[in-house]
Amino acid sequence: KHVAVLKGGWSSEREVSLSSGRGCAEALRQQGYRVTEIDVGRDVADQLLKIQPDVVFNALHGRWGEDGCVQGMLEILNIPYTHSGVLASALAMHKERAKEVFRAAGLPVAQSVVVSREEAARGHVMNPPYVIKPVDQGSSVGVFIVREGENRPPAELTSPDWNLGNMVMAERYIAGRELTCAVMGEEVLGVTEIVANTQFYDYEAKYAAGGSRHEVPAKIDAESYAEVQRVALAAHRALGCRGVSRADFRFDDTKPGKPELILLEVNTQPGMTPTSLVPELANLAGYSYGELVSWMVEDASC
Ligand code: DAL
Ligand code: MG
Repeated sequence: KHVAVLKGGWSSEREVSLSSGRGCAEALRQQGYRVTEIDVGRDVADQLLKIQPDVVFNALHGRWGEDGCVQGMLEILNIPYTHSGVLASALAMHKERAKEVFRAAGLPVAQSVVVSREEAARGHVMNPPYVIKPVDQGSSVGVFIVREGENRPPAELTSPDWNLGNMVMAERYIAGRELTCAVMGEEVLGVTEIVANTQFYDYEAKYAAGGSRHEVPAKIDAESYAEVQRVALAAHRALGCRGVSRADFRFDDTKPGKPELILLEVNTQPGMTPTSLVPELANLAGYSYGELVSWMVEDASC
């Protein structure tokens, strides 16, 4: 099979995607596929028409690659592609719209409000602590925590250089721990705890060496572990995701009684370097990195 790996692009997660794409392409070659790597630009449709691949491996992250745009183009070109389709991708990318779907499915999400960034910059959008996030970015780009007693959102929000959209989401800050869980088709994988060395699991913690540590499997009680898996699979299905996705959670066990589990979001194009969270969880379930990417290629459709 001839596989075209789409990577790079021009979203705020370009560098992350180049890493994901490089890893996947190398592993696919080792698995015996013929691989063409495409650093995606606006001429991507022309390139695909020229090389006529059997399957597209989508290793893009962020806008255009993760939000349904590239998926729509691939539907029109009639080339099978990995991960979710148009609707699930678009829904998952918009953190507030995704929440509406999760709420309707009875899944636990944090209270939030979408405001313009000017409004957010003026403060007092909700009682601190809360988190400000662009509604449709990934990798924690442009995410800030407004802590108790501060209520002074960051100046970046009104900077002329801000290119992360005009609407932001203010979301209740959930204390405690960071968990993530992956879904692979019909199968829910395990749960990882992410221990960040920074204030939260920000861009630096995600990608700088030593920025964070992964506890695989997460050391939480068995009941909570199963609950994370149940919610991850339910969220994947509620959005109509396909192939691999990864759900991110906060888990607050700082208060007495039953811990609070909150679903933050589903990533339809999760990080795919050999040391990323999803490959790690696939490994725990007995799939090597090569087996995982091969499975994804064989599972591709349009
Ligand atoms: N947005 C990054 C790539 C992730 O979810 O892993
Ligand atoms: Mg994300």
